[in-house]
Amino acid sequence: MSGRLRARVVGVGSYLPARVVTNEELSERLPTSDTWIRERTGIRMRHLAAEGECTSDLATAAAKRALASAGLEAAEVDLLVLATSTPDHTFPATATAVQRKLAMGPAIAFDVQAVCAGFAYALSLAHGLLATRQARRALVIGAETFSRILDWEDRSTCVLFGDGAGALVLEAEEQTGTVLDRGILAVELCADGRHYHHLYVDGGPSSTGTVGHLRMNGREVFRYAVTALTDSAQRVCRKLQLEPDQVDWFVPHQANRRIIEAVARRLGIALERVALTVDRHANTSAASIPLALDELHQSGQLEPGHLVLVSAIGGGFAWGSVLLRW
Ligand code: ACO
Repeated sequence: MSGRLRARVVGVGSYLPARVVTNEELSERLPTSDTWIRERTGIRMRHLAAEGECTSDLATAAAKRALASAGLEAAEVDLLVLATSTPDHTFPATATAVQRKLAMGPAIAFDVQAVCAGFAYALSLAHGLLATRQARRALVIGAETFSRILDWEDRSTCVLFGDGAGALVLEAEEQTGTVLDRGILAVELCADGRHYHHLYVDGGPSSTGTVGHLRMNGREVFRYAVTALTDSAQRVCRKLQLEPDQVDWFVPHQANRRIIEAVARRLGIALERVALTVDRHANTSAASIPLALDELHQSGQLEPGHLVLVSAIGGGFAWGSVLLRW
């Protein structure tokens, strides 16, 4: 089989803001309880950004750690893709703020907005740009400060989210073109705007001129998420003639433990091979997958050569899956 360029993972890093807010702390100021939150979602705590700490600060901290793990300087990277729905400003792209904070110099840099599916979309775009030789090395970051768009009076949404960032460094590498290659092997993305109003922010520059707050039809999101994630994971595996239970790690978007368990069960993947951080991080939207990957890597459980299935869904609805070999 002929060779082909792959986007191989050569570095990973993450960052969580210092402030931890437990369910107990939330229940002191809202009509909620640790029991309700844990039983419905699996969440025990979340990290929240400090006043003045922006998405670009979280992203920069994660990117620095990813670069250090790759043994690279920022100037050696020529592509920066940042998945976020909580940009520092309406424009320019927060990716350019990160570029500046990293002292990276001229490179391709842009934001991707696919909400909680953002990291899957960002990986796919980086993969495409590396595979078509438009760049050689990419920083792919997911970073969010959802605490800034939550309605802290709405107990049905504000207990679900946290802030954080994670990053991968990808490098274009000529490989054999088989399923044994390392790097991104297959991608499956989709969106369906008919579900726009099930999960959205009720503000924006061209509609209200305000930032707005997150609004959600939780039951509808739950129902759709289980079906779409399962279908997406199966589709991406089929592209390589694999079954989902052949993966070493399933790293789903971390929204809700019950969604994750339902999807893993349908895919036939044992829970021991499923990344789970939602208990400590809550839902960090586009940051949840790289945060989970970094945690698995740091703990030594994610090893070179492992086959990893990443799946995510968020507002839009937008969703997607990526199969990669670590
Ligand atoms: N504490 C206590 N009670 C609460 C809370 C809370 N924080 N929030 C809601 N309730 C109450 C409701 O008011 C309702 O009370 P009522 O029966 O007196 O009216 C009751 O709990 C049940 O509310 P439901 O919304 O029906 O609860 P449900 O079992 O559906 O759980 C939840 C809600 C956890 C949001 C669930 O629907 C869910 O997880 N959905 C998925 C949403 C999600 O993960 N979104 C993340 C963004 S999308 C993504 O990342 C995939």
